[in-house]
Amino acid sequence: MRNFDYQTPTRLIFGKDVVEKKLKGVMEQFGKRVLITYGGGSIKRSGLYDQVLQILQDKEIYELPGIEPNPKFNPSVLDGVRICKEKNIDVILSVGGGSVLDCTKAIAGAACSDADPWDIVTSKVPTLKAIPIVDIITLAATGSEYDSGGVISRTETNDKLAYFSPHVFPAVSFIDPTYTFTLPVMQTLAGVADCINHIMEQYFCGEHIMMNDAFMEGAVKSLVKNVKTVLEEPENYDARAEIFYATTLGCNGIYSLGNSHSGWPMHAIEHALSGHYDITHGVGLAIVTPRWMRHILQATTGQLHEQVVERITSFGNHVFGTDTPEESIQAIHDFYEGIGIPMTLQEVGIDDSRIDEMARHIAQNEGLDKAWVPLHEEDIAAILRDCQVAMNN
Ligand code: NZQ
Ligand code: ZN
Repeated sequence: MRNFDYQTPTRLIFGKDVVEKKLKGVMEQFGKRVLITYGGGSIKRSGLYDQVLQILQDKEIYELPGIEPNPKFNPSVLDGVRICKEKNIDVILSVGGGSVLDCTKAIAGAACSDADPWDIVTSKVPTLKAIPIVDIITLAATGSEYDSGGVISRTETNDKLAYFSPHVFPAVSFIDPTYTFTLPVMQTLAGVADCINHIMEQYFCGEHIMMNDAFMEGAVKSLVKNVKTVLEEPENYDARAEIFYATTLGCNGIYSLGNSHSGWPMHAIEHALSGHYDITHGVGLAIVTPRWMRHILQATTGQLHEQVVERITSFGNHVFGTDTPEESIQAIHDFYEGIGIPMTLQEVGIDDSRIDEMARHIAQNEGLDKAWVPLHEEDIAAILRDCQVAMNN
């Protein structure tokens, strides 16, 4: 088992009506000037926006609306930094999905620096402090509510990059599973696929311990079962709650303390897809996952191949009851297809015209040549080409 050094300063407040019960008290510990960040309107339709304003009526409120999925550096991060500096904001309250929270993290870090905000996001200039962040997370997916990262897109260069700093852990995250009742079906599915993939990125590695294996297999089994329940009953609280619990832990590292690192290859590949085509992150991951598994099964030899066979077989056996690596790969594919996720790139509007460009971008920027199973430009291009072809026949 490997050494680890772990700390998460975020307070999680989880359950029904927690915003009504505790938001006011929590916000008292920060100053008077609050920037509320949010997306395209889901919080207005659900009534959460009005509720938050009512609770915070004695605060000085500023707003940054319109943060898009795959949040954009320009204008959202830049606008947020400007407001924070001009209005001397004390705390940022992010209300929405992972995109709103990721954008908020970049704003919180960049607003405390005189450097160019892009240099903060790319970590060319270190983040030395950040405006405190409180969030009300409305989508079970990214785990951004319990981690120190955010993913920011820059449209003009097709970059989609992860920004990390211990200073941008949320101070407090409110997680009320009833908010996810209003999610469009595809966002529920994409959120579950995102979390399953976060777990797989941690499960598929060279050195792992039994306790982590069981923890992660249990979480994926719970997601597989509970997503089927919410497809039938979107307002099943316990199923929504268990999904949110799994997703909240997903990107924090807690599932795999003591394991070696995989290099997160499927995320590296998907970030190029959503960076170039603005597709939904979890859907992109679902498409890439079985193709990456098949590629590493076919492309490895010797001891590394034995590890790959063991991991793929073990995952499928514990989650889906399959016996062989090939069955395991087909099972994850069939699970996603069965719940209704499009499983080829064509179905999400991506043809093969930019595959070589994306493969080069990934190979140059993501360091996958040092991953657990190293991937070079030609491997990445082969995986992306495989994503064009349906897997059933
Ligand atoms: O913009 P609004 O109107 O709020 O609508 C959103 C958006 O259209 C809607 N939505 C959110 N909560 C809702 C709701 N609709 C109805 N009811 C609700 N309760 O859902 C749509 C998608 O929202 P978004 O925030 O984009 O989704 P998600 O939470 O999946 O975040 C995706 C982003 O997070 C990044 C992804 O790359 C992507 O950019 N990631 C962040 C990570 C992190 N910080 O640790 C890790 C992940 O691997 C991931 O890369
Ligand atoms: Zn993800």
